[in-house]
This record gives sequence, C-alpha cells and structure tokens, in this order.
Amino acid sequence: MSSSSVFRKISVSLLALVLLVTGMNAAFAADAPAASASSEVKIPPVPFAFKSSPLPNVMVIATGGTLAGKAADETSFQNYRAGTFLMEDLVKQLPDKNKIADVSVYQFGNKGSGGYAIADLYDLSLVVDQALKLYDGVVVTTGTDTMEEIGYFLDLTVQSEKPVVITGAMRPWDVIGTDGPANLYNAIKLAGSGKTTWFGTVLMLNDMIHAVRDVTKSNAHRMDTFQTPIMGALGYIDEEIRIYRAPARALKAGKEDWKTPFDLKKIAKKDLPIVGIAYNGQEMTGGAIRGLVADGAKGIVTAGTGAGGISSLMGEARKEAIGKGVIFVTTTRTGSGTMYGGGEGIIAGDSLNAQHARILLILALAFSDDFETIKGWFEGVGTQDIDGSKLAS
Ligand code: SIN
Repeated sequence: MSSSSVFRKISVSLLALVLLVTGMNAAFAADAPAASASSEVKIPPVPFAFKSSPLPNVMVIATGGTLAGKAADETSFQNYRAGTFLMEDLVKQLPDKNKIADVSVYQFGNKGSGGYAIADLYDLSLVVDQALKLYDGVVVTTGTDTMEEIGYFLDLTVQSEKPVVITGAMRPWDVIGTDGPANLYNAIKLAGSGKTTWFGTVLMLNDMIHAVRDVTKSNAHRMDTFQTPIMGALGYIDEEIRIYRAPARALKAGKEDWKTPFDLKKIAKKDLPIVGIAYNGQEMTGGAIRGLVADGAKGIVTAGTGAGGISSLMGEARKEAIGKGVIFVTTTRTGSGTMYGGGEGIIAGDSLNAQHARILLILALAFSDDFETIKGWFEGVGTQDIDGSKLAS
C-alpha cells in the first residue's frame, strides 16, 4: 500500500476524520512474522456512534478504476481519467446511504486496476481482513479490467467469513447515465445485508451478484459486461436482494476446510512468484513460453484451444520448461469448460479461466514448490466440486 494512503471516516465524529496509515504498526505484528512492514496497517476501531447504531458497519476500501473516474465532459463515456475522485467524496454524494449502513472509507490507492502489482494485492487482502475484524462487511472498489484477478485473489486469501463485495463501474462517475453510484450503493447494501456471509468474495455490478471464481469480464464497454458463463449469476438486487444459489464453498460454512491454505500472514509478499499466461492459436510458436521462462516464471498457464490443446511448437517449449521445473496449468481459451487429466508437470485447471488459474497458481507456488501439493490445491480449493452425498458428514 502506498505510504500516502489515508483512512477517511465519514461520520459525525471528528476523532476519526483523517488517519495516516504509513508503515504503522501492527495489528498483525504479534502473529505475522513473515509479513512485510508495508502490509501492516492499523484500522481504527469502529467509532462509538456506529457501535450504538442499529445499522451494519460497512467499510469501503477504494482502489480507483472507472468508478472513481473523471470524464472530459458529461457525455465523454470513454474519454476520462480512471482513479481520480476520492471515495470519501463519492460516498458523500450517495443518497439514502444512511438507511442501509454506517459507511466508512479507506482509500487504499487511486488508479486503474492494471496499475497494481500482485504484491499490492497481498497488502489489499491483509487490509480487508483487518477491516473485517471490526466491520460487518467490506466493499472493495476497483477498476473492472483486472477485477477478475483482484476478486479471486481476495477470495483465496481473505480469512474472514464476513461479506466481501467487489464492485466498480463501466462509466466514469460524472457522465450522464453513469453506473458508478448505483453499483456503489448496491454493493454497500449487499455487504451490509450479511447475505453473502461464508460466500467468499462476490462481485456485484449492474445489479447482478456473481461468484468471483466463475465470473468473467465479457465485453470491453457494456455495463452488463460481467457474466458467469454456463453456471450463471448467484442472484441480483432490485429493491430487495435475492440470492438463488450459493458458491460451492459456502456449503463448507463453519468447517475447517472452508478456509483456504493461503493465509498471507504466513508468507512475505516477495514469495509471490512470476506466473504467466501463454495463449495458443493456429501454429503458435513456443516464444511466449520461452520468454516467460527467461523472465523467471515459476509457473505458466496455457489458454489452449478447445479442451486445452496447444500447438506442437508450444508443446516442445512446454516440455523444455517442465524440464527446468516450471509448473503448467491447462485452461481453455473458449471461455468456459472443464479441463481434466493433466500429466507430468501439468495440472488440469478444471473450469477456471486462464486469469483465475494464474492467480491460484501464483498463490500455490508461494506456499509450496511440491507438484503434488499444488495439484491437490487445484483439485480441492480450485475446483469446488459438490458431492451432495457427503454434505451431512
Ligand atoms: C480499470 O480497470 O481501472 C479501468 C477500467 C474500468 O475500471 O472499468
């Protein structure tokens, strides 16, 4: 997190107005020997005014993106600067927010989603967990371009079962017909409702609620860009919030295996390795794979044709890389479908798309270099297959 990040509390209380959060100490210090100093932030306690309120406390952790974008003028839907407005000011403009939650704001950063490093996501996840020790739910606002990655990283690493809702916008805040205020309002409403407790991180845009593991950005511009291919959304928000299905992980609510193995307090962010994606096509060469290996990649996800196929030239490069200890995950470039099997040095990515598989492989390689262990995590944490006959046990 940048040293200029500030915590802003929207409240009648002057006490919590502005708090600088540089490399300050250490709600994590006692149990976080491996965590780097920059990840240690102190979220102030919920102010008394909020504690005595019947409304849920929701913290909005803002990172920027189009939702915080400033347009060249009121009809410039594409000509804008992402990550410009401060979340404190945006929340102030939301009508009726006092009917749904007591809202606090933490400005983690303010830029486009693609401007964040994987190491920044480590910090973000720790901030989310820290906030959830005090608050009833968290909304994370990000750009939509890499929201799949940011959301799945949070899903795999946040330790709390409390609601985490990621949202953004496809139109900047200050154009006519912007989706920013409605998305922010509904995300706060959803996080405060508690209805996605035990769901892990969910994505809420355009009134639709999706499991981050399964959702994908399907269009460069449309406001209904986020879709969950084949399996569909979890629910939606009209006036009421309706949730019609739960992610498989929610069936493990309260059980030890609900938590993933990826507790970031056990690693340092420098442990997060380089992992790349190699996209297959007609007679693709092995250059993408060799280039990633030269960059130091410890893992590579292939986005293959059909059921994960790669060209013979890519296959040769993959064989060489496996010989050097690189671990591969197969996915499909088709947009949906399950990969089965695998092989020596190759793990089947189940129905994860390439960008989700890459996030899981980064985390898996940060916690282990053992192929069988990592394969097991893809088959368990990554797959989330449901067997109804075992649900009662
Ligand atoms: C970004 O991802 O930061 C820009 C695009 C968006 O927010 O929709």
